[in-house]
Amino acid sequence: MSGYRIFVYFTPDELPATRSLTQSCAVVIDVLRASTTVATALKNGCKEIVPVETVDQAFSLAGTFDRQNVLLCGERKGHKVAGFDLGNSPREYSKRTVENKTIILTTTNGTRALLKAKKAEKCFVLSLINLSSVRKMFSENAADVHIICAGREGDYSLEDTFCAGSLIRELQVYHSGRLVRGNQQAVHAIELAEKYNDSYLEVLQQSEHGKYLESIGYEKDLIFCARRNAIPIVPIYKNGKIICERKTEHQT
Ligand code: MLT
Repeated sequence: MSGYRIFVYFTPDELPATRSLTQSCAVVIDVLRASTTVATALKNGCKEIVPVETVDQAFSLAGTFDRQNVLLCGERKGHKVAGFDLGNSPREYSKRTVENKTIILTTTNGTRALLKAKKAEKCFVLSLINLSSVRKMFSENAADVHIICAGREGDYSLEDTFCAGSLIRELQVYHSGRLVRGNQQAVHAIELAEKYNDSYLEVLQQSEHGKYLESIGYEKDLIFCARRNAIPIVPIYKNGKIICERKTEHQT
């Protein structure tokens, strides 16, 4: 039986320690908001994004750069970290702010998920705003796919799982000749995507983190993060940095 397999993990900790990703393709999802921020920053011309786990690591790494060429970015509990240049609202990452800069990024869940996937042969960063662009990468990949949802503080997240299911649905549609087999989490993710279909904003508004972000004044971020295929680029994480692997033609 031909065809690659798709494994979805609701949180980074679900990825078995014994699972080697070196021969596989990984996809990291943090719709609210790290992967949306990553796609936006790259689209607006940042040089690269370096994910780190802790705030201290971010400060010490920034110290190795010429300060004018680097931006300290990220959040804790959704708010910009004291002393950082930017928080994690993708709306902060304008061309004027990020162009040609190295971005050092640490977030509560998203950067942890990225670091889990750093050994993958290929690791793409997926959000709702670049979904079809990332999907196109799989027509060139025959390896198993491991989709790692950032989740929320160690728990399942509706929005990341929905995004994973939406990607798999597109793969099934576009690669119907190739049998896509998956784990139980992948089956659930597809069912979620079929349930909500294109109601992206509704998913974000119903999610725990979406409600939290609204409660601390970031309701506009939900609208920004729900814009289907608004940013047709493919961020790839390799050698410890996230860069723009490809810009695809604008999706309808
Ligand atoms: C995360 O790391 O889960 C998110 O990026 C947190 C946020 O931006 O609110």
